[in-house]
Amino acid sequence: MPDRFHLGWFTNFTPGDWNQPFSHGGSPWDGKFFVEMALAMERACFDYIMLEDTLMVSEAYRGTAEATLKHVLQVPKHDPLPLAAMIAAATTRLGVVATMSTLAYPPFMLARLASTIDHISGGRFGWNIVTSGEDAAAQNFGMDKLPPREMRYAMADEYVDLVCKLFESWEPDAVVMDRERGIYADYRKVHAINFEGRFFNCRGPLNTVRSPQGRPAFVQAGGSPRGRAFAAKHADSIIATANHVEGLRQYRDEVRAHAAAASRNPDDIKVLYLVYPILGETTEEAKAKHQRMVNAPSFVEAALASVGSITDIDFSQFDLDAPLPHITTNGEQGSLDKFAQWGSGKTLRQLASERFDSGLNLIGSPDDVAVRMAEAIEAIGGDGFLISTPFQRISRRFINEVCEGLVPALQRRGLVRETYTQTTLRETLKEF
Ligand SMILES: Cc1cc2nc3c(=O)[nH]c(=O)nc-3n(C[C@H](O)[C@H](O)[C@H](O)COP(=O)(O)O)c2cc1C
Repeated sequence: MPDRFHLGWFTNFTPGDWNQPFSHGGSPWDGKFFVEMALAMERACFDYIMLEDTLMVSEAYRGTAEATLKHVLQVPKHDPLPLAAMIAAATTRLGVVATMSTLAYPPFMLARLASTIDHISGGRFGWNIVTSGEDAAAQNFGMDKLPPREMRYAMADEYVDLVCKLFESWEPDAVVMDRERGIYADYRKVHAINFEGRFFNCRGPLNTVRSPQGRPAFVQAGGSPRGRAFAAKHADSIIATANHVEGLRQYRDEVRAHAAAASRNPDDIKVLYLVYPILGETTEEAKAKHQRMVNAPSFVEAALASVGSITDIDFSQFDLDAPLPHITTNGEQGSLDKFAQWGSGKTLRQLASERFDSGLNLIGSPDDVAVRMAEAIEAIGGDGFLISTPFQRISRRFINEVCEGLVPALQRRGLVRETYTQTTLRETLKEF
């Protein structure tokens, strides 16, 4: 049995399971559904809830938004930051991670927002650092198309450097609140940063009080070699997608080697693998659920349009019953590689049906799935899982299956946390 491992949940502010038998109805826009979800996750002692985000309405599939809007593929999606603040205010121990793109926010605004939510949460905020991956997103910010990956990462490196300087611009003891002398903050401990870079300039200092964690926890998901190197340099936690134990082990080994090369302790980076468990009271029930999902008439189209929306590829142009030709993307290359299973010889139709399959066979009763998760972590070497659900069709039923079925099955085996011992997200991640 492995040591304990970590748990996160990958979700977004979208309508979820809007039309299924156990649906919440499809209008979660007051945010309360997600607050309740976070409370359930906190009872189950998850490390963090991760609020994914993108900034466009994809027309990648057949050149229109029809499939995107019909199948609720990343749209409609409301802003994760106000939701993060709501969740932060309603919880006490759960980490709250929100996605903000370096393409979209001026660095000063991002640092200020992150610092503010780190305060609201008492030190439990995390920033999922993304560079955006779609031309449609770039066009919403005045660009003709997405800068090439190398350029995006070069910009992101500088961006992270800049915001870290802003986070440091208030010394830890800058706020003195000296009633006798009538001084709130000591001006000698609040510093301009005078940052002049290749892409960004910023004078500073930040106009918020230094945040409880100093800087928020950094989460990242770079899938390309360049992305993995970036993540290894900056991240406290990496969210990863790959196939089978071998792919995941290789991902983690590579990130840890990069981290060591950058003089970081590899154990300070927790790699969490994106998985889509399907749970039933029995193995047969879970398998039947899985079959119903992949055999649904619209599943293949929705799967192809969904992977197309994050890779900017129109998969309708390829023959469904032939292997996918080798293609690359300036969007999410890691997600494309995971989807395409290069060299497997599988047809596009087969690949679509395995869109949400990690190769770890997490379909079964809570006990079945708990055992397989343990075996996978043992073989990979660490560090944990990022739970999600196909097409983000989340329901209270699925939240309960995980938080009151799967997690207790993991806890009974001593595989995950049963109680929080730390207060900040970074400390929680480093607890084991
Ligand atoms: C689990 C996971 C979650 C991600 N979440 C987001 C997100 O919320 N928003 C976004 O724009 N990109 C997201 N990405 C994309 C990554 O930030 C990154 O762009 C992608 O993995 C491609 O990396 P690469 O450019 O190094 O290939 C995610 C990727 C993965 C694997």
